[in-house]
Amino acid sequence: MTTLPENISKTVAKLPDGPKTPIILQTIQGIARPLEYLEKARSQYGDCFTMRSLGFPPIVVLSHPKAIQQVLNADPHQFTTGELNKSLEPIMGENSLIRLDGERHASQRRLITPPFHGERMRAYGKIICDITVQVMNEWTVGNVQPIHSAMQEISLRVIIRAVFGIDEGERYQKLRQLLTLWLNAFNSPLSSSLLFFGFLQQDWGAWSPWGRFLRLRQQIDQLLYAEIQERRQQNHNSGEDILSLMMSACDVDGQPMSDIELRDELMTLLFGGHETTASALAWAFYWIHQLPEVRDKLLKELETLGDQPEPTDIARLPYLNAVCSETLRIYPILLFTFVRIVKSPIEIMGDHFEPGTILAPCIYLTHHRSDLYPEPEQFKPERFLERQFAPYEYFPFGGGNRRCIGMAFAQFEMKLVLATVLSNFKLVLADTRKVLPVRRGITLTPAGGVPMIITSHQKGKQTSI
Ligand code: HEM
Repeated sequence: MTTLPENISKTVAKLPDGPKTPIILQTIQGIARPLEYLEKARSQYGDCFTMRSLGFPPIVVLSHPKAIQQVLNADPHQFTTGELNKSLEPIMGENSLIRLDGERHASQRRLITPPFHGERMRAYGKIICDITVQVMNEWTVGNVQPIHSAMQEISLRVIIRAVFGIDEGERYQKLRQLLTLWLNAFNSPLSSSLLFFGFLQQDWGAWSPWGRFLRLRQQIDQLLYAEIQERRQQNHNSGEDILSLMMSACDVDGQPMSDIELRDELMTLLFGGHETTASALAWAFYWIHQLPEVRDKLLKELETLGDQPEPTDIARLPYLNAVCSETLRIYPILLFTFVRIVKSPIEIMGDHFEPGTILAPCIYLTHHRSDLYPEPEQFKPERFLERQFAPYEYFPFGGGNRRCIGMAFAQFEMKLVLATVLSNFKLVLADTRKVLPVRRGITLTPAGGVPMIITSHQKGKQTSI
């Protein structure tokens, strides 16, 4: 079972009401049917309720914009987060950004954020389009292509490139293969449970789920450490890529990052930046092709771009932006932001919370409020053209001092990949039935992987637009 720090397990104050079903049932529902669980709890207990699951202390779920604003805008010293991200430690390690709090968290963020923003990020525009073309070149007209796996391949190559500055060569190919196999270890609600429950993490040999996971992790670690070692020997840490930046940085005492710290941060970026963006893209393809009027409108807008648009011109298209925003509203990739653990007493909308209380801003429930988003179950990009939402009404990337560092990068990547594929291929859904979200690790992905039929090229040849 996941071990929890002392102060968290001793939450004393009275918590808001919540579902009364036995904890084991709440746990199963929360993993297997999380959306139904959350919606039912909200309809019974309102905007603030307490959720209970096996191996975790009670968690207070928030979905009122005012409560979200108070939590996300609070002074970073009011809350901690890292200790409850322990369930991700087997993947990202104990030195990962997501496990840190306080000054160490802030300084690590300052170090790895710049490459994902501004000019440095925009420099990746051409690379994203080129990688998309490389992956599309493997498609054959008439064949069925599971779009989710194609998007995984694109987003993995892109993040490897951003992190290492290169994505070719034997080591990177091996890394790609291993990371793909590794992520597939969590491709069902059952296998995702491995991440949440420490007692399932048993190594019963290479064929047991956890044993397989550990062996793959060991192989990935070997490749990462070999890369770090090689760069140290060659003094090759002056590049613009993220690994180079991390290797040349020192902390306040003048100490550089150790190998294990570098490894943990690399895994954080590879894991955090890959499956999330791939799922978002898979959902976008699904919605665009499920709703012909959305597809037609988008294609019309893409036609206005001309022959050789700059990536920044693509990123500025209003309807494309609205489609991406609505994709992340209707099924946010993460149902919750990371939790915020109260450090000093706080009152939120009349509820008083003692230190140790765990608060979880719920992205999904806030995004499905009909007072903010009329007919919340309908996919309507126009919402984002008609009004602007505040960062506590719409927050697929969380907020405050822990807001996703890859936010701008992921949005840029989504737009460029969609524009490149849609300008080159005509696709149709192989199955037009409604696709439901399914848990894959910590993300919410489209069940079945969205198989699509490649019917024809939009243009004569595949090009990076
Ligand atoms: C569509 C794609 C993505 C979605 C929906 C997403 C969503 C999120 C969310 C909800 C959080 C928690 C924020 C909070 O608690 O306030 C987060 C944190 C984080 N994300 Fe993303 N993310 C995406 C892509 C990326 C990419 C591309 C990267 C890396 C390049 C990345 C790296 C991270 C990291 C390192 C954190 C931890 C930040 C911290 O603890 O300070 N994410 N993301």
